[in-house]
Amino acid sequence: MRPVEIAEDVHWVGALDPQLRIFDIIMKADHGTTYNSYLLTAGDKIAVVDTVKAPFYEEFLENVRSLVDPRDISYVVVNHTEPDHSGSLARFLEDAPNARVVCDRNCRNFVRNILNRDVDPILVQDGDALDLGKGFVLRFIHAPFLHWPDTMFTYAEKRGVLFTCDFLGAHYCDDRLFDDLVDDHSRAFEYYYLVIFRPFKKYVLEALDKIHDLDLRVVAPSHGPILRSDPRAYMEKYRQWSTRPEPGGKKNLLVFYASAYGNTALLAEKIAEGARAEGAGVAVMDVTATELGLMIDRIEAADGIAVGSATINGDAVEPVWYLLSHLATLDLKGKVGAAFGSYGWSGEAPKLIAERLKGLKFKVTEEPFRVNLVPTEEDLREATELGRRLARSL
Ligand code: FEO
Repeated sequence: MRPVEIAEDVHWVGALDPQLRIFDIIMKADHGTTYNSYLLTAGDKIAVVDTVKAPFYEEFLENVRSLVDPRDISYVVVNHTEPDHSGSLARFLEDAPNARVVCDRNCRNFVRNILNRDVDPILVQDGDALDLGKGFVLRFIHAPFLHWPDTMFTYAEKRGVLFTCDFLGAHYCDDRLFDDLVDDHSRAFEYYYLVIFRPFKKYVLEALDKIHDLDLRVVAPSHGPILRSDPRAYMEKYRQWSTRPEPGGKKNLLVFYASAYGNTALLAEKIAEGARAEGAGVAVMDVTATELGLMIDRIEAADGIAVGSATINGDAVEPVWYLLSHLATLDLKGKVGAAFGSYGWSGEAPKLIAERLKGLKFKVTEEPFRVNLVPTEEDLREATELGRRLARSL
């Protein structure tokens, strides 16, 4: 795709990757992605902000060349060193031999290890400015752990454009490029936050505070749509998702289940009933029908969880493992965990779930609760009692 001007003398010169379906091994990318790089020609000196993933270098270089001679470029700003943004840096420094790398101190080591040589970068600190001439100044904003130690934002003051790299980005490929032109990308935007930034909420809030008072006309991340319709609305979403609920309310228990014939679901309802009777706030969720992000959000805010699964082929079912495999980045210490489930003949699932909960640092004090096939009245009473005990232990 050819360059696109996103503000006066500020061009997108990146690359589209519409075929991508898995990013970084673990992350779904149902709509592909983009590697957004930006060329700034508003001053006397020319700068590039971030490059692209290595296989897309030629496309990126062609975009740059269509606007300037790369030998006239003075600076390459590296907001973040992950190779989807720096994978082309080595080649680009050969084609743009007069460009100096601009990055923060943490980034320097990463750059060195990616290029396997030092590049004598201009090291910038929080608040430093780089004057490109004609009153066009870049201001650097230290924004560590979003999501590597090296991350920073670059703010083109005169244009009100903030380059945020991964922050406020999304894996969403659409050549219309701007958020007001592409289809609704809110699910991709939220998913990106959940996978990349959820573990770094404290840093998200710090960064949002830092950029709060800027004149923000455009937020230009390095993946997905450029946010120009209402950048602050996207920032507000990050703020909401990163803000923990006020303490002091009811204790909360979440009861998750995956049920083949309704028996494990019935146990879930009885556990919930018991916990409610003890005054806990309780929500029951079918893991096969609930958004992963919602479940994770709720777990983070809850005081305890009970997880139920049918046993199939000697194991808990895949949707339960899928949920449990996404909890490692949460602070779970002190939360109560319990496992339950109805089974046909072997019934391993509750025990396996309990072990996993312990491994995740849940406080697991109850024996895994197992019921053979259809729960009896006695089983249901026991499930209710389990719910009561769990509520009291929150
Ligand atoms: Fe898009 Fe953390 O790289």
